[in-house]
Amino acid sequence: MKGVILAGGLATRLYPLTFATNKHLLPVYDKPMIFYPIQTLVRAGITEVLVVVSGPHAGHFIQVLKNGKEFGLKHMEFAYQENPKGGIADALSLAEDFADGKPITVILGDNTTDADISKPVKEFKKGALIFLKKVPDPKRFGVPRFDKKDKTKIIEIIEKPKNPPSDYAVTGLYIYDNQVFDFIKKCDPNFAGRGELEITQVNNFYLKKNELNWTELNGYWLDAGTFDTLLLANIYWAKKRGFKNPSNF
Ligand code: DAU
Repeated sequence: MKGVILAGGLATRLYPLTFATNKHLLPVYDKPMIFYPIQTLVRAGITEVLVVVSGPHAGHFIQVLKNGKEFGLKHMEFAYQENPKGGIADALSLAEDFADGKPITVILGDNTTDADISKPVKEFKKGALIFLKKVPDPKRFGVPRFDKKDKTKIIEIIEKPKNPPSDYAVTGLYIYDNQVFDFIKKCDPNFAGRGELEITQVNNFYLKKNELNWTELNGYWLDAGTFDTLLLANIYWAKKRGFKNPSNF
């Protein structure tokens, strides 16, 4: 399967860190943030990747990622999202030709995880598969509402709910069949009130067709898009690589 990394957007939440470069090139311990989603795809057996970029620092990516060979990729290409605030679904729409009618694995460029998704990638057939993770702060995410009787059945996904109906976040990893591009064309920028084409609306389209499946993401997962979670991601990966604080502060 081919993979898509969405690394557009302006990352205004991280100003002033993102005045001079793109969020996905900021350090997470010893690597630029975008190395992590690339490695997640490579671990899942994906060797052809499209990176969607946008904003004033879009050109920085090529100096860092080059042709993708050092990650073990056979093919890497870039697409430029003209409106950096178009939304995740708008960024994904640029992958239609690349997908070539086949399913794709999609990951957000600020999501870092050590989960192994190779089995769901290999076994995927049709519809959509989303990965859920229990979080302490669901308000920041897309959140599923489960059926009261069948507690495994999602009946709705709400983007950044004020009163989260569950403590699960929809993580930024998704597997879609080719219908995704038709659903994106039906997205309404007012869906979640932020003027963006929302991936949560796309997931709700799949849900309405009864073609949205979910699984729990096994492993550490964090979206490094805020000051606090960027710091936490740095701490997690530093410790994982054996960092010990010599001064004990
Ligand atoms: O991290 C998981 C969450 O990501 C999900 O639970 C939410 O449902 C989903 O909407 C998203 O929420 P965020 O508010 O965190 O998304 P954000 O705007 O920070 O964008 C996440 C990534 O998507 C970003 O690192 C790059 C890419 N992106 C975003 C926008 C708005 C693009 O490529 N283009 C864009 O226009």
